[in-house]
Formats: sequence, structure tokens, C-alpha cells
Amino acid sequence: MVKVRILGDEGAVAQAVARRVQRLLASAPSAVLGLPTGRTPVELYARLRRAHAAGRVDFSRATTFNLDEFLGLPPDHPGSYRSFMDEHLFRHVNLNPRRIHFLHGGAVDPDRECARYEAAIRRAGGIDLQIVGIGANGHIGFNEPGAALSADSHRARLEPGTRRSNAALFGGRASAVPREALSMGVGTILRAGAIVLMATGASKAPAIATALGGPVTTRMPASFLQLHHDVEFVLDREAAGTLR
Ligand code: PGA
Repeated sequence: MVKVRILGDEGAVAQAVARRVQRLLASAPSAVLGLPTGRTPVELYARLRRAHAAGRVDFSRATTFNLDEFLGLPPDHPGSYRSFMDEHLFRHVNLNPRRIHFLHGGAVDPDRECARYEAAIRRAGGIDLQIVGIGANGHIGFNEPGAALSADSHRARLEPGTRRSNAALFGGRASAVPREALSMGVGTILRAGAIVLMATGASKAPAIATALGGPVTTRMPASFLQLHHDVEFVLDREAAGTLR
């Protein structure tokens, strides 16, 4: 049963998820976090930076695993998700760099890189709290809708709409966005102890409604979250659409 929280606006969504991270790290300082990129978590990371600066959250013993990365981009490429995380969170908080984990977009052997990532997650004891966004097409991570989904971390082909929505990272040019990525699989996400999906804005409302109210189907990857025992959707009014 998916828990749903509908809040007034984007700021309230970010605040609620930031508080959840703060509570987790207060009670379990060495927790393992699964982290998303994109427009939605920008405000979440801003709040976590501020909380850290104010001494309200300590990341020193925490471990992180990011959901996905563009294939073919080295970590220091300005369009990489690793660079996004450095800019929005990592550079500003006291995470131990050895406990920051990323799928390496520049890996020469993507399949091996994905196997390495799954093993690293297992070695860390699994992800305690996985935070995800949702694409307007229903993707979570880069698990795009289709006839089949991958359970584990894998090489993924991006839909044109997904490339367009990432254009801002590449000087506004969708054609410059890589065509492929490495991503946690739906199984990787579902193995987390708890999952929070955050979504804001009217463009997400149709996907949210189908993910929650429709059947579990590979055509709507976020619908698989219905199978998890501890999942919460934290939505603003616009993303909640007509849900009540
Ligand atoms: P967004 O991306 O936060 O930029 O909307 C979310 C996603 O595609 O998972």
C-alpha cells in the first residue's frame, strides 16, 4: 500500500523529504541513501545543505548511491549527474568521499560496471532509504517504459522526451544529451528498505495517477513501487492532480 502525502508546494515537498533524511541520519548515522538527480531534488539538496551548515544533519558516516548516470561521460564532465551532485550536495556536506558511490559513465565495460555497482550496494548492506523522482513518462531512474524492464543495474537507452528534459545540463541542446545511460534497475530500487518518490508540478500528474491507480506494468515503471511494503509518494498539489 503506497502512502501518499500531498503538500502545498515544491518547497513543502523538499522540506518533508529533507526532514526524513535528517531523521534517518539522526537515528542511524551510518545509513545508506539512494539519491536522485533532476530538477525535483534541487530544493531538497538546498535544504540539506542549509541543515548541514546549521549543524542539524551529519553525513560523516553515511553512504550514498546515486540512481543513474549518462553513459560515455566521465564524472567531471559538466553535464554528468556526478557533477550535478557535487554542485548541489557533495561539495557542501561532510560525506566521506570513499562512501559516495556512482555508476561510472566513462566505464569501458558497462555491463561489468553495473555488476560492480550491484556488488557495492550489497557490500554496503543494501540501501536504507531510496529517494526517486518520476519522469512524465513514468520512468524511475532511467528505467524507461517498454515491453520489459531490467531488475538490476543495466545499460539503458533514453527516450527522446527524457533527453529533452535533460537538455538544460547540456547548454539547452537535447541533441547533446547522451542517448544511453547506466541505471539502477527496478529490482535495485525495490530492494531498498524504504522508498520515497517526490514529484512536483502538473506535468507529473498523469504519471502519478497511473503509477498509483493503474496496473503494475512495464509500460509505467513507477507502478512497480506498488509492490513495495514501505513506499511514500510526497507530492505537491499540482503533481497530485485529481488525487485526494
Ligand atoms: P525531474 O526528473 O526531477 O527533472 O523532473 C525526474 C525524473 O526524470 O526522474
